[in-house]
Amino acid sequence: MKGQDVPWAAGRVFAYVYDAGPEAMDLVTRAYSKYLVENGLDPTSFPSCLALEKQVIGMAIDLQEGGPDARGSFTSGGTESILLSLKTARDRARDLYPHITQPNIVIADTGHPAFLKACAYFDLKPVRVGVDEHFRAVPAAMEAAIDDQTILMVGSAPSYAHGVVDPIEELGEIAARHEILFHVDCCVGGMYLPFAKELGADIPAFNLSVPGVTQLSMDFHKWGYAAKGASSILYKHGDMRKYQIFAWSGWVGYSVINPTISSTKSGGPIAGCWAILNHLGRDGYLELVEKCQTASGKIIAAVNEMPALRVLGNPKINLFSITSDTIDVFALAEDMKAKGWYIQPQFGFANSPANLHLSVGASNAPHVDDFIRDLGACEAALRQRAAAGTSTLPPDIATALNGGSGGDLIAMLSQTAGIDPDKLPDRMDDINKLLNVLPADVRDQLMVEFVNRLYVNQ
Ligand SMILES: Cc1ncc(COP(=O)(O)O)c(C=O)c1O
Repeated sequence: MKGQDVPWAAGRVFAYVYDAGPEAMDLVTRAYSKYLVENGLDPTSFPSCLALEKQVIGMAIDLQEGGPDARGSFTSGGTESILLSLKTARDRARDLYPHITQPNIVIADTGHPAFLKACAYFDLKPVRVGVDEHFRAVPAAMEAAIDDQTILMVGSAPSYAHGVVDPIEELGEIAARHEILFHVDCCVGGMYLPFAKELGADIPAFNLSVPGVTQLSMDFHKWGYAAKGASSILYKHGDMRKYQIFAWSGWVGYSVINPTISSTKSGGPIAGCWAILNHLGRDGYLELVEKCQTASGKIIAAVNEMPALRVLGNPKINLFSITSDTIDVFALAEDMKAKGWYIQPQFGFANSPANLHLSVGASNAPHVDDFIRDLGACEAALRQRAAAGTSTLPPDIATALNGGSGGDLIAMLSQTAGIDPDKLPDRMDDINKLLNVLPADVRDQLMVEFVNRLYVNQ
């Protein structure tokens, strides 16, 4: 079955996977499989799971300079860490600030959708704020969005799309002055930025030591190279974590006391995570980050030399995105796919045009010259194609698609654009071009309908 998957093991995939090589992979596999059966649900029955978590969270707090008061929890991923952070913020506000009846959070357009998901789950209102031309949050605009119902502000370190670190110090000062919580989303940066900074990259202060920062999410299953299912939510003031914990003994069964969302919890992810952190250590991560920084610098320089392409913002690390004013970037992604590479399409939104995202990992580093060669060839070929860069979607269809429910839209799509809604398409560029011109809420409806049809029982 894996034959149809993206070829990550060949180092040709620039998203979704984090591969530190066969030795690291083997170690994680062995540690993980020792804990297939243990249940992290009950730390009194499985004190070894507790011990592993205490050590892993201790290392995370140390790396993020949390200080002696800091506490945290091991979670299944960045999204769970963010969900818990916002649930904690909401329940704390309910407890301490009775005048807050419609709590909101202030978040830049570049903030990860996990925060919007948390708002949807926990009935919080997101207040979205535009970013500057370098895709950085604008402190004055963020401050202007705060009102008497605001419970928390979000900063990204970095944002996923463009790899940009927000001005965390300025935002922290604002959060402290307004006495609101401040979550730094370090999900993708937590195991990368500290080492990139140590290597001399120009990265502003971003961690728990920054005044005003109250909580921070960081993932191990990204640049920590742990098996998937490994992240953390950290609080500078450990007391706050009590709002995160759910307890229920008022029934006929065992007492449920869950610090995180899952109840029954495999010991695998925490064991794999503990093993890789100890195995690689600071020196190992430094070495990996150095490889990624060098490879990224090479790609960024080469892309900026290609006539039709440019890198968005001013990236300092291994996450960045490329766009074009003249060629169709979605077609570029597909042409690269035909050559065995995966780069990730991102739709235009607010001041960010349609683009392709790259997360450059250590396993990509040895293949960078080949990648640059193929990217250059595809870019040149697309420049020759006269029609490139224009949307194939006639404006009247775009207007028609603006009405209607997800089901209607899908039906209209299959009739007008010849797209079969019930199977994965061979090439995605026509679909992406079409989705790119639709308002985000309309494309969300379409994608819900599409995914709802995709998962059929066999
Ligand atoms: C900045 C940021 N926040 C949150 C997330 C969500 O993490 P996950 O996919 O582990 O739930 C990601 C994922 O890439 C991310 O880059």
